[in-house]
This record gives sequence, structure tokens and C-alpha cells, in this order.
Amino acid sequence: MELPFAENYKIKMVENIRRSTRAERERWIREARYNLFNLRSDQVFVDLLTDSGTGAMSDRQWSAMMLGDESYAGASSYYKLKEAISDITGFPYFLPTHQGRAAENVLFSTLIKAGQVVPGNAHFDTTKGHIEFRKATAIDCTIDEASDTTLDHPFKGNVDLNKLQHVFDTHPLEQIPFIIVTITCNTSGGQPVSLENMRQVRQLANRYGVRVIFDAARFAENAYFIKLREPGYADRSIREIVHEMFSLADAMTMSSKKDGIVNMGGFIGLREEELFRQASVYNIMFEGYITYGGMSGRDMNALAVGLYEATEFDYLETRISQVAYLGRKLHEAGIPVQYPFGGHAIFVDALKFLPLVPREQFVAQTLALELYVEGGVRGVEIGTIMADRDPVTRLNRYPSLELVRLAIPRRTYTNNHMDYVAASLINVWQRRNEIRTGYRIVNEAPILRHFTVELDRV
Ligand code: F0G
Repeated sequence: MELPFAENYKIKMVENIRRSTRAERERWIREARYNLFNLRSDQVFVDLLTDSGTGAMSDRQWSAMMLGDESYAGASSYYKLKEAISDITGFPYFLPTHQGRAAENVLFSTLIKAGQVVPGNAHFDTTKGHIEFRKATAIDCTIDEASDTTLDHPFKGNVDLNKLQHVFDTHPLEQIPFIIVTITCNTSGGQPVSLENMRQVRQLANRYGVRVIFDAARFAENAYFIKLREPGYADRSIREIVHEMFSLADAMTMSSKKDGIVNMGGFIGLREEELFRQASVYNIMFEGYITYGGMSGRDMNALAVGLYEATEFDYLETRISQVAYLGRKLHEAGIPVQYPFGGHAIFVDALKFLPLVPREQFVAQTLALELYVEGGVRGVEIGTIMADRDPVTRLNRYPSLELVRLAIPRRTYTNNHMDYVAASLINVWQRRNEIRTGYRIVNEAPILRHFTVELDRV
């Protein structure tokens, strides 16, 4: 008998979670103004809002925390992290920040001017927010295949080189500060970018003399998919692949809350000393002195260990197999999910799931709310609410996909929880034809509105 797959860890500490009744959940979500971000965590049974900062640290990470050096300047924890980052990514310079968007804030303050454009593959919302905040424009150059959720394509995060070329053909060079490649591409469904594509982007950037920056929050998951799917990489180690990936970038922004497997933290990795110097000024202003930048010494220690754990094959196999386990359960029930399954999450195609709900009544949000009321499972809308209004026309932007993302925290839930999530969603699926109306906005912020938006039933 072939031995079945099993997790590459056992559990040393547990955290109790509590089930609730449907009546409780109906009341709680009404009080939360139909915004899942407004719920208290104890009102949620299985929390798939995000895989960001929600993972379980290992015993090695916890023990490294005890050795944290909290010196303001020159802490040994800083040097430990610097060594880990340069060993794993190859970037000789780095700046710690308190999380990923802070890295964006610091680096974009250094590089972006008003009126510029930043091409990339489906920029994440904070990335786009930090570009638009500087009166610049993010141009999405993701391949068209990414928006067909049923299409089997190994690298749906890839940049479309013709679209990228078009940006260079239609804008003067001084208007393009850099290209940003998000690995894996969260917005297109946790989909990876191939090394071949990264190389092509690099070549195009070299031709025009612009920088390539990686938004590398899930770089290790991206490397796992390269090993499994890209010809020529099956025998290469994850760390070798990671090295090759980063050799194609000039800098990286990192949310360590994902593939750093820590609860808080981020950094910028850089190759050029001069850029490091310029960014240091903003880092000191916004984050903290350059040897801590918003992180405590113990957190830098935990991250230094986490980066190694996240780039172990067995860890990645455990992690990504669990995501696929949930994906398969939903797929087998006939539920339309993004295919192939993403690295950190399963994305449910809400337009196909709830075809009767009008687009302007926020289809994906409607589905996310139904799932919460059904089972106390919290996912997140990646659709029209998250897409914000057009900064010029102030009209709602309708993205090509309305998705509900079920993001799986790292090393946190068991496959029994995945069964529970699948059953909850299947129950909603069985009554989908009774769901005909959605929600309207009562209150919203001018940017990144999904965090605080208040809704009411139509
Ligand atoms: N880039 C990507 C691709 C992300 O997914 C995120 C965060 C960030 C940057 C910003 O990092 O949260 O540390 O400031 N994504 C989280 C998510 C919030 O739920 O997908 P941060």
C-alpha cells in the first residue's frame, strides 16, 4: 500500500475556537454592517480572511524569540536577519519594515513621482493604493488567461509581454520608474509566475533601462510551483529556484507575514547601495532606525528562522497540499473555483456561483456573507468593493472577476477544518438559486474602502 500524505509537523500548543449558532451570526453580521472585517475574531469559527500574519510559528521560531536583541542600533538580531535575507534572496542590502505595505511606502517614496505609471501583474490592493496615493497609475499587464477561472494554465500570474511592451510604446521612459512583478500573484488567484516569464520581463526592462521589483510576499510558494510545473526545475531545490528568481530583480518588497511565517514584519531587499541609501531616509522617517525599522529584535530573530522553514520542500508540500485539498472538495461538488488552485488560497468564482445577483449589488461580497452566516467561516471579497472607485471618474471599477478568497493560514488548521469549510460552502451552493439580491454601500472611505465599508441589504 502506498503511504498516504501527512503533515511534516506535529502540534505542541493549541488555541481553542468556538462554534456559534446561525441566529448569533445573523445578529453579529448585521451589527458589523455586513463588513466581515468588523467581526470580532471570537465570532468566527474558521477564519480564512487572510493567510497574512495568521500562521503558527514553530518551536524553533519561538526559541529564537528568546534570544532577541532589543538594542536600538546594531542589534545582533538585525545581523542575523540580514544574513538570512542575503543567504536566501541574494540581496546584499535590506531595510526592515513593520509589514509589506510599509516596505511599499518606503520604496515607492524613493522611486515614484506624480504622473508616472507602474506596469505589473495585477498589483495587490495596498501596492495599487501606494501607487495611486502618489498620483501615479498602476497598469495591469497580467496574461488574459488569468481571468478565465476554468482554464488550466500553469502560470496564471505571468506578465503579458505584449501588454508590457505597449506600456513602453505609449509612455515616455521617464514616466516608468519600474516594473513590479507580484510572486505569487495574489489578485489573479495566488497564481505563480514562471522563471521564463521573469527572465523575459528582465530582458525587456534591460532594453529600456528600468528596474524590476518583486512584490515577494509569497515567493517560496511561487518557487514550489516552478519546481513542480516548469520544465527543467524538477531536480532543483526550492532555495536554488528562489535564488534564480531574485537574481532577476533589482529590489523586492516583502510582507514577512506570509512566506516569512511570522505574525508581523516586512522588509525591502536591495542590490544598489545608492538606492539603499535613499530609501534609508524614508525608512528612518516612517518606520524606525535602519537596524530595526518597526520590528523588535525578537521578531527579526523569528523571521530569520521562518525564511528558512518557508523554503523547505516538505513544508511547502504540506502547505500547498492542504490548499489543494480544500480546492478539490469544492471542485468535486461542482462549485466554480479558480483553477489551478492557488498557493495560499482557494478563490471561488462568485459571478458563476450567484448569477442572479446584479453586479452593482456586490456579488462576491454577497457570497462571502452567505458563507459566514452558514458556517461561521470568514473569507474575503476580492471584487468590486476591493477594486475601489476610479480615482478620476469616481465610478465603481468592475474587475473582470468577482472572487471570494478562502485564504489558508500556514500550519494553523487541520484538514477536518477544510472539510467543515467545504460543507458550509456546499450548503450555500445548494440554495444558490434563492439568493437573488445583494448589498448597497451606506458608507465608504475614499481609498482601500473594503476595510471600513458599511453596507445594507438591498
Ligand atoms: N503584496 C501582496 C501580494 C500582498 O498579498 C500583501 C498583503 C501585501 C503586499 C501587503 O502586505 O499586509 O504585510 O502590509 N496581503 C494580505 C492579504 C493583507 O490578505 O492578502 P502587508
